[in-house]
Amino acid sequence: MSATVVLGVTGGIAAYKIPALVRLLVADGLDVSVVMTRAGTQFVTPLTLATLSCNPVHVDMWSERPGPQVEHISLADRADLAVIAPATANIIGKLAAGLADDLLTTVCLALKCPVVICPSMNVNMYRNRVVQRNIKTLKEMGCHVMEPESGWLACGWTGEGRMPEPEVIAAEIMRHLSAPDLEGERILVTAGPTEEPLDAVRFLTNRSSGKMGVAVAARAARRGAQVTLIAGPMSVEPPAGVRNIPVRTALEMYQRVMEVFDDSDVVIKTAAVSDFRPANPATGKIKKEEAPGKISLVRNPDILHILGTKKRAQQILVGFAAETENPLENGRKKLIAKNLDMLVLNDVTQPGAGFRQDTNVVHFLLRSGEEESLDLMTKDRVADLILDRVKEIRLRRGRKQDSAPSEADHQVRP
Ligand code: CTP
Repeated sequence: MSATVVLGVTGGIAAYKIPALVRLLVADGLDVSVVMTRAGTQFVTPLTLATLSCNPVHVDMWSERPGPQVEHISLADRADLAVIAPATANIIGKLAAGLADDLLTTVCLALKCPVVICPSMNVNMYRNRVVQRNIKTLKEMGCHVMEPESGWLACGWTGEGRMPEPEVIAAEIMRHLSAPDLEGERILVTAGPTEEPLDAVRFLTNRSSGKMGVAVAARAARRGAQVTLIAGPMSVEPPAGVRNIPVRTALEMYQRVMEVFDDSDVVIKTAAVSDFRPANPATGKIKKEEAPGKISLVRNPDILHILGTKKRAQQILVGFAAETENPLENGRKKLIAKNLDMLVLNDVTQPGAGFRQDTNVVHFLLRSGEEESLDLMTKDRVADLILDRVKEIRLRRGRKQDSAPSEADHQVRP
């Protein structure tokens, strides 16, 4: 994505997390221009942020060189989104009052784009009525003020006032910059492997990392969907901005999926669910001498198949399959047998595809009969293409009856 973000950094201790935020934004293809207050430079150096953003960092109003462009206006004009992180009580007060006494506040007054503000301060400062009034004013003016996190604060107090983690802020930024074309969709994604206990310390599992499901959940959230992720023990972190329900076994996944299914418009089942579980797991650890010669297994419920039997007309069901022989033929059979709207076929025989990779090679088989073979691409890109097909299925089927009304995203600059 090529969009320009103006990142305002003010003088709070949470500024130490800003280099990580800049890295995440740059990795997502954003052009980041950092504007710092003098106090901000006490916590993180302009050189660090200039190096990571690959752009000059702007601090001083009076260092503007005379030229065809007025720097603070051109910065504001170029911005697709502005983010103030960390936002101290001081900058929040100045923005609410419309002051412009340094470069950052001057740029802010000239902005025409959405503004995200990430408060960061001592809990008592945050609760102070003046600060709360200023935050309310900024919200009324159309700024998006993120809720600070609660926890240990650098000043020694515990409570709300912590700046959200860089990953959470980055997800919020990407959500604002992406077209909210999935707004109103409630999407359930399953991901990762399951673990089937053999005894207190051993289990059966598979090599799934959860990367494909995390990519689908993150992209869906970014595109405005309300996402629930039900995931087995993954080797990657669940994305920010989704409701995360961790599970361990296939039976637990089955129970949680059934609880959420009725309130889901779309289900995307990327999880590599174990088809079997040990019939009689030991409660303690099995000693060497007691090791059974054979392990009896029983079948786990085929969650996808059960969802196919319960699916309502407006629900969209997407399954995954990993096939090694006759993939297309087997995939077409699975699509019908499990009553799916779409099957994503992993070509695990191809280099760069399948478990633990950052890339995948997939075929899409749609219930409408369309089929598509995609080249090797990142799992993020595969996720976006799956969601594009889901959107097309929704459009063809007509509007959902039970879709939530979408909130108009009206913006006013501070
Ligand atoms: N799946 C499921 N519950 C299971 C097993 C699989 O919901 N107990 C779902 C997975 O989440 C995925 C698809 O079914 O969407 C994967 O199916 P796959 O393992 O490829 O094929 P199976 O249907 O299990 O058949 P087989 O292993 O015999 O090919």
